[in-house]
Amino acid sequence: MTSFFRDDLLADRVALVTGASSGLGRRFAEALAAHGATVACCARRPEKLAETVNTITAAGGQALAVEMDVTDRDSVADAFETADRALGQVTILINNAGLASTDRAIDLEPAVWDQIMATNLTGAWTVAQRAAKDMIAAGRPGTIVNIASVLGLRQSGGVMPYAVSKAGVVQMTRSLALEWARHGIRVNAIAPGYIETDLNREFLESEGGQTLMKRIPQRRFGKPEDLDGALLLLSSDASDFMTGEVVAVDGGHLVNTL
Ligand SMILES: NC(=O)c1ccc[n+]([C@@H]2O[C@H](COP(=O)([O-])OP(=O)(O)OC[C@H]3O[C@@H](n4cnc5c(N)ncnc54)[C@H](OP(=O)(O)O)[C@@H]3O)[C@@H](O)[C@H]2O)c1
Repeated sequence: MTSFFRDDLLADRVALVTGASSGLGRRFAEALAAHGATVACCARRPEKLAETVNTITAAGGQALAVEMDVTDRDSVADAFETADRALGQVTILINNAGLASTDRAIDLEPAVWDQIMATNLTGAWTVAQRAAKDMIAAGRPGTIVNIASVLGLRQSGGVMPYAVSKAGVVQMTRSLALEWARHGIRVNAIAPGYIETDLNREFLESEGGQTLMKRIPQRRFGKPEDLDGALLLLSSDASDFMTGEVVAVDGGHLVNTL
């Protein structure tokens, strides 16, 4: 993996990535491992996590698949204990697991709202809180990178609960940064624009997706590797004086208010 960052940038660090079984989370796990971190790859589907781990180990990195459902506090606690026992204390958390829906607000089923909030917002808080408690107890602080979205900062039709959950992630990032700075824990977020993954592939290829592309100043959707720079910056000491920041990586989408 060619990179602007040194290969040993994250040597001796243990990272935990939620949603590492596909899409952005898989790429985050690979990028962290390629820069020296040992990575606990977490999600619900073990067979998909095994693919992530195999890719990392084939490239010479170190990773472990750990099942975790972010909506289940016991599952989160078990996963952190497993990662800690096998790899050592987690000092980099990438809080990435997430879901979206495309229902119009008027038709939205309460169960869909509940599931999106439970995963994207409550789940992200549960995981961040567990990571921070461990860091404080061990006296080894670290860095938390929440994966928000441009939709936490601007609106679009048909994504109301998703946008609300990601706006919550933005405010959670700032609030946790404020509360946990005294413990030496930094909390930042990446707000990706439209990056092609399983979450949105069908939509991005549709007519609506092509119309949307015209509103992106750089006139393209992102690739998961477009997030490497922000990920490595916020995961490493290179961002030592940054906390509570939300970094958009979106081809300029946010500066176009149309
Ligand atoms: N792609 C984009 O354009 C884009 C833009 C902005 C923000 N994002 C955010 O980036 C994150 C990753 O999205 P993606 O595009 O990579 O989508 P994706 O390919 O669908 O990946 C979502 C990941 O979340 C995991 N997940 C879902 N529910 C979970 C749960 N209850 N517990 C643990 N893991 C769970 C899934 O794993 P399992 O099913 O195996 O559990 C999967 O690995 C999301 O937070 C998304 O909102 C994406």
